[in-house]
Amino acid sequence: MRAVVLGAGMIARDQILPSLFHLQRHGHISAIEVCARNPASLRRLASDPTLTRAFPGHTFVHRHEPFREVIASLPPEQLVVVALPDQLHFDAVMAALEREQHVLCMKPLVHFVAELAAIRREAYSRGLLVGIDYHKRFDDRSLMARQRYREGAFGEFRLGTACLLEKWHYRDSNFQNWFTCDATDAFTYIGCHYVDLVAFITGLLPAEVSLRGVKDRFPNGEEGWLWTDARVVWSNDAILNVQNALGFPDAAPGSNTQGLTMYCSGGAGGAWLHHSDQYRGLAYCELPGAYSEPSPDYFQLVDQGGVGRVPVGYGYRSVEFVVRRALELRGWPLAERRALLNQWDRAGMMATPANSGYNEAVIEAARVSLHSGGHPVSCIRTEG
Ligand SMILES: NC(=O)c1ccc[n+]([C@@H]2O[C@H](COP(=O)([O-])OP(=O)(O)OC[C@H]3O[C@@H](n4cnc5c(N)ncnc54)[C@H](O)[C@@H]3O)[C@@H](O)[C@H]2O)c1
Repeated sequence: MRAVVLGAGMIARDQILPSLFHLQRHGHISAIEVCARNPASLRRLASDPTLTRAFPGHTFVHRHEPFREVIASLPPEQLVVVALPDQLHFDAVMAALEREQHVLCMKPLVHFVAELAAIRREAYSRGLLVGIDYHKRFDDRSLMARQRYREGAFGEFRLGTACLLEKWHYRDSNFQNWFTCDATDAFTYIGCHYVDLVAFITGLLPAEVSLRGVKDRFPNGEEGWLWTDARVVWSNDAILNVQNALGFPDAAPGSNTQGLTMYCSGGAGGAWLHHSDQYRGLAYCELPGAYSEPSPDYFQLVDQGGVGRVPVGYGYRSVEFVVRRALELRGWPLAERRALLNQWDRAGMMATPANSGYNEAVIEAARVSLHSGGHPVSCIRTEG
């Protein structure tokens, strides 16, 4: 199966391309192409020292035509990986489906329930996979929490708090070209991870959201909602507060700050779950004096004694899971493909348009709330 990555930015470099190179190393992926408008970004990606050291001899084909043309040049049932700014996801995913391609899309799939529904219909009618990379689901701690919650160990979720604040230097990146007030905000960009996780763990659905934000300017003068505070009310009236920003100090430890705390209740008393998702127990001070708290859990390239380096962590496992599902589907008649897709939708491990539409519902409602000064807005129901 060939893979075409649309977008050559941060997530393509840090997670997608190294995962695909490793899958190529093991024969699961044949040729890899990367499409971006700017040829310089393709050259930067191709010569990235971390990637060239980890995957000697692995290369990708540079494509800078419009992504529709690139997709149109593929035979059916290859994999299109959408790593573009959010506002391009809908067109890119639909273009891939219309050309009979399986899709791995970075989160969030889209910002609107109507777009989600169109993708869901198109994919199911053609028996194609759309896997959405909510990679925190593949963190073992998320799987443990889901299992223990669903066994009843925590009773019922009542109140919670989550945060994910990216480093200040994100403001210097390509984000200043697309992370504008009209297009997105800190909650939509990264808060969605924790909304998805609480649903993944508990099976509850977001019912209402209110979102307040604070605007700040990027270095290029564009304005973005770079600080947000959300209150998400769930189907059982539980409440989750989610704080997000592109603004955690560069000098602070870790590559960001993030975590989840859930307070729950059962007949006999209270229950509590706390994940520090940024501090994974490692503290380094490397020469010439840089303190860091690296995460071995998300994504690392480690030396396991062979040629190059091996990706480990839930960022890799999330990509691998979707690639393996796409490979499983290939070559079956439509009815069998639909049966497999239904089975995976029900299993709920991989986020799909059928089982994670609450993310689009909460984003659509949150954007309305944000622009109205934080009024509570109901989430459209998407399940069923
Ligand atoms: N934690 C996460 O799960 C996570 C982290 C980062 C990004 N993401 C998601 O991944 C997606 C990409 O984010 P990123 O951080 O890589 O952004 P980025 O700004 O670093 O990269 C975007 C890339 O898309 C390219 N591009 C823009 N318009 C294009 C077009 N019309 N045709 C082809 N290429 C085009 C740009 O040249 C750039 O290479 C976003 O949806 C984002 O929300 C998820």
